[in-house]
Amino acid sequence: MEATPTLILNDGKRMPQLGLGVWQVSDEEAVDVVRDALNAGYRAVDTAAIYGNEAGVGQAIRESGLPRAEVFVTTKIWNTDQGYDQALRAMETSLKRLGMDYVDLYLIHWPTPSQDRYLDTWRALERLRAEGMARSIGVSNFKIPHLERLLAASEVVPAVNQIELHPYLQQPEMRAFHAAHGIATESWSPLAKGQIFGDPVIGELAAKYGKSPAQIVIRWNLDSGQIVIPKSVTPSRLRENLAVMDFRLEPDDLARLTTLDQSRRVGPDPDTFS
Ligand SMILES: NC(=O)c1ccc[n+]([C@@H]2O[C@H](COP(=O)([O-])OP(=O)(O)OC[C@H]3O[C@@H](n4cnc5c(N)ncnc54)[C@H](OP(=O)(O)O)[C@@H]3O)[C@@H](O)[C@H]2O)c1
Repeated sequence: MEATPTLILNDGKRMPQLGLGVWQVSDEEAVDVVRDALNAGYRAVDTAAIYGNEAGVGQAIRESGLPRAEVFVTTKIWNTDQGYDQALRAMETSLKRLGMDYVDLYLIHWPTPSQDRYLDTWRALERLRAEGMARSIGVSNFKIPHLERLLAASEVVPAVNQIELHPYLQQPEMRAFHAAHGIATESWSPLAKGQIFGDPVIGELAAKYGKSPAQIVIRWNLDSGQIVIPKSVTPSRLRENLAVMDFRLEPDDLARLTTLDQSRRVGPDPDTFS
C-alpha cells in the first residue's frame, strides 16, 4: 500500500493530501466506514460538529489500534457556535464526542457574514491552537474579502481554507490568493457529488489512463497541489479513490481539465449561507 502524499502547512505541521470526507454519514455508519477507510490506508478524516458523527469517527480511530498521531482528524465549528466563548465551548464538546484531547485541524465551517462573528471565533481558535487542543487552525468557505478581513485583524494566518472545488468550479482566484498567503486549498465535494461522472472529457481521460472518472478528478487535485477529501460509504469506492498514487496526469491533460470550469456550485454560496 503506497502512502498518501502529505503537504507541509504554513505552521510546519504535515497534512495528508488525500482524506475521507464523512458528510451525510450517520454516527453508527461512520464507525464501519472509517474503520474500512483506515484499513484501506486512509490516514485523514474530515468531519464536523454538524455532521453528527464525531463520536463514530473517534470510536473507529480508537478501535483501529493505530497510534493517534498517525491519523489526521479535522473537525469544524458550526455556525450557531460562532463567537469567542461559544467557540471555546464548541471545541470542548467536539473533543468529548471524538474522545480525543486534540484535533489536528479545527476549521470555522462557514463565514456566515450575516452574523459577523468570525473574527471573534478566530481569536478563540488562535487560543485553542496555543493551548494545543487544535494543532492547526483554518477556515472553510471563506471568500477573498472574508480572508482579507481576517488577515488584517489576526496574528495567525489560516493553515487551510476548505472550499467547494471540482472541475466545474475551479476557483482560480481563490487558489491564487491562497498561494500568495501560504494558505493550503482543500477541495470539498471534489466529485461534485457525482455530477462529474458523465463528463465526456473526464471519460476520455479515464479511458486513456485506465482509471475511473473519480480517480482522474482526485489525481487532478493532487497534481494541482490541493488537499482532497472525497466521500464514499462504499468499500470498493473507498479503495478506488485511494488508488491514485501510481499515475500522474500529463500537463496537456491538466490543461484540458482546466477548460471544464463553469463556475458552477453544487453547494451554497458562502456570502449568503447562514
Ligand atoms: N466545508 C464544507 O462546507 C463542506 C461541504 C460539503 C462537503 N464537505 C466535505 O467534503 C466531503 C466530500 O464532499 P461530498 O460528500 O459533498 O461529495 P463528493 O465527495 O464530491 O461526492 C460523494 C458522492 O460520490 C459518490 N462516490 C464517491 N466515490 C465514488 C466513486 N469512486 N465512484 C462513483 N461514485 C463515487 C459517493 O457515493 P457513496 O458514498 O454512496 O459511495 C457520494 O454519493 C464531505 O464528505 C465533507 O467531508 C465540506
